[in-house]
Amino acid sequence: MQLYRLGLLVASFVTSIGAASTFSPARPPAIPLAVRSPYLSTWLTAGSDGGNGGYLAGQWPVFWQNQVTGWAGMIRVDGTSYTWMGQPGPKNVVDQVAYEYTSTKSIFTMHVDNKVQMKITFLSPVTPNDLKRQSLVFSYLNVEVSSLDGQQHNVQVYADISAEWVSGDRNAIAQWEYGTTDGVAYHKVHRQTQLAYSQNNEQAEWGNWYWATDVSDHMTSQSGSGVDVRGKFMSDGKLTNGRDTKFRAIADNWPVFAFSSDLGSVNSSPVSTLFSLGLTQDQAIQYEGASAYAPVPSLWKSYFKTELAALSFFHHDYSDSNNLASAFDSQVAKDSIATAGQDYLTITSLSVRQAFGATQLCGTPDKMYLFLKEISSDGNMNTVDVVFPAYPIFLYTNPELLKLVLNPLFENQEAGKYPNDYSMHDLGSSYPNATGHSDGQDEKMPLEECGNMLIMTLAYAQKSGNTQYLRDHYNLLKQWTSYLVDDSLYPANQISTDDFAGSLANQTNLALKGMIGIQAMSVIANQTGHADDAENYANIAHSYISQWQGLAIAKYANPPRTTLSYGDTASHGLLYNLFADAQLGLGLVPQSVYQMQSDFYPTVANKYGVPLDTRHTYTKGDWECFAAAVASGDTRKMFLKDLATWINETPTNRALTDLYDTITGNYPQNTFVARPVMGGSFAPLLVR
Ligand SMILES: *[C@@H]1O[C@H](CO)[C@@H](O)[C@H](O)[C@H]1NC(C)=O
Ligand SMILES: *[C@@H]1O[C@H](CO)[C@@H](O)[C@H](O)[C@H]1NC(C)=O
Ligand SMILES: *[C@@H]1O[C@H](CO)[C@@H](O)[C@H](O)[C@H]1NC(C)=O
Repeated sequence: MQLYRLGLLVASFVTSIGAASTFSPARPPAIPLAVRSPYLSTWLTAGSDGGNGGYLAGQWPVFWQNQVTGWAGMIRVDGTSYTWMGQPGPKNVVDQVAYEYTSTKSIFTMHVDNKVQMKITFLSPVTPNDLKRQSLVFSYLNVEVSSLDGQQHNVQVYADISAEWVSGDRNAIAQWEYGTTDGVAYHKVHRQTQLAYSQNNEQAEWGNWYWATDVSDHMTSQSGSGVDVRGKFMSDGKLTNGRDTKFRAIADNWPVFAFSSDLGSVNSSPVSTLFSLGLTQDQAIQYEGASAYAPVPSLWKSYFKTELAALSFFHHDYSDSNNLASAFDSQVAKDSIATAGQDYLTITSLSVRQAFGATQLCGTPDKMYLFLKEISSDGNMNTVDVVFPAYPIFLYTNPELLKLVLNPLFENQEAGKYPNDYSMHDLGSSYPNATGHSDGQDEKMPLEECGNMLIMTLAYAQKSGNTQYLRDHYNLLKQWTSYLVDDSLYPANQISTDDFAGSLANQTNLALKGMIGIQAMSVIANQTGHADDAENYANIAHSYISQWQGLAIAKYANPPRTTLSYGDTASHGLLYNLFADAQLGLGLVPQSVYQMQSDFYPTVANKYGVPLDTRHTYTKGDWECFAAAVASGDTRKMFLKDLATWINETPTNRALTDLYDTITGNYPQNTFVARPVMGGSFAPLLVR
């Protein structure tokens, strides 16, 4: 061991290979560090395809798109410097002994030369019922140090960010300033030329980044080139309080923004240093709603007069925020374990920050919106068939959030801004521009999106008790139902949400969604006093579902199951839309179909799951959770166990993909990452 450690010291820079960390409840493909919005989304790659196995020291944190967002941590113990995050310089690295994640936190335990212990907590708050807190695009980093060997040690803690956070263009000129407010010291960094609503490499090209800590006598700060600033800490254990005033390109001598905290003599009582990191954009979205295309303010603007007031509130809120986070984590843990055990919690708790991190609250308290980015697949806004797989997490945490995602879709279409008689696919092809599709030329997924809108609207109304919402949108819901009546018994050749798998006529699962949508409309009609419509749609839905059983079930197959498309008796697929029938309590589909599918899936399961359909060996994690939700005991367990195993073993190294190969565990042709659809892992919680 000693020789091996010497080997580590002479290498120019070696990751913590050899240090043995535990990972609990799993070692995810990528570890969420600061994941709060489509633009505050930084991860540590872990999977073997490029990650180092999940060690914080030795590789740079990255934006979800995989470019580095420089974030460095060092600690000095009795005059020797060690790296605990990134690759800032010291050849010594801390020994990572444990990593643990909850729904909102990533917690690393480090030993430094067996002298001191560090507990490093990355907290990205998720407060679904407290929209003031939820509106802030900020995340915490808390570093706690204590003596490990009973001796007192002289300790200084250092952390910085680079200008890589402010633009995806490394040649963009960054500008910065330093200040204090209300006991909070901050570096403010931004693009010198703000490009409102623009993205580069998926990063935001506008807004101000804040990196902050507490003002104290023990704190020093500095801006300057990474080499100088980090070198200064390594040699002196403190910074100069000097300011680099040469604003320059992000990659020109890499300006960094640093804090150092002198903890003095540390004994066994833990001493903490808290950092806050976040993005402020006065206006976050451009939106074509009922009125003309216009900017929409970030929701936090309604609660705070200035950016500094928002920063100060957030930083001073750590203790309350941490308690709220722990309570939320416990609730998810308790409910997940009660529903399907620890494997299930491994999945739900990893999905929370990712799902919420694709959203941004905008507007004002009396006119709020939740905008959602279809991260990595194409950046569309509030894509209906991306909201649908995510809807379980919103329904579980706060159904009003589901309404806030649906609202802008209704507003745009009810204002007559979409010419087709079926539901639009998305609110705009490029986040953050919700331009709508007044030419009707959006990605055409008519049956899928009409069914989704009907299902989600009823799901919201049932959970919230808000039947007025159904009245408010009755006409448009009825228009979409007409489309379903025309197209869902024999669906035309079209794509479903799984567009990467290709188009097909008579898709069994798509037809089912349409029929469930019609029955949902029957319930909507009933609840809003439209007795004739209620009866008519119930008759159609029931007639369709009995014909569908004749068209879609391979009843002589062994074992029997539904086909991928009508008549193709050699085919099969995940019948995940069945979930909506159960979740809404419609009772449209006979129990025998549920049982048949549940008995069938184990017969085609591969190592990491059940293939999406017979065309490929890949599957979708979100749809597996939908299928698991409506499967009986052992089959449900199988789905969730295989998915949890995959999370722990996949070679993929980027933010949790929802599309993976069930045999190799790797990506198929598409690299979907960080998508909100993993909020679908909450499906089993909704049909207990
Ligand atoms: C959004 O629209 C603005 C013009 O208003 C444009 O400059 C920007 O590039 C667009 N953003 C994206 C991501 O397409
Ligand atoms: C859909 O299925 C029906 C019944 O099997 C068949 O008559 C029809 O030709 C199919 N449609 C297409 C486009 O294949
Ligand atoms: C709604 O359904 C209930 C129960 O089936 C029935 O009694 C009631 O008359 C229906 N109301 C309307 C308006 O269809």
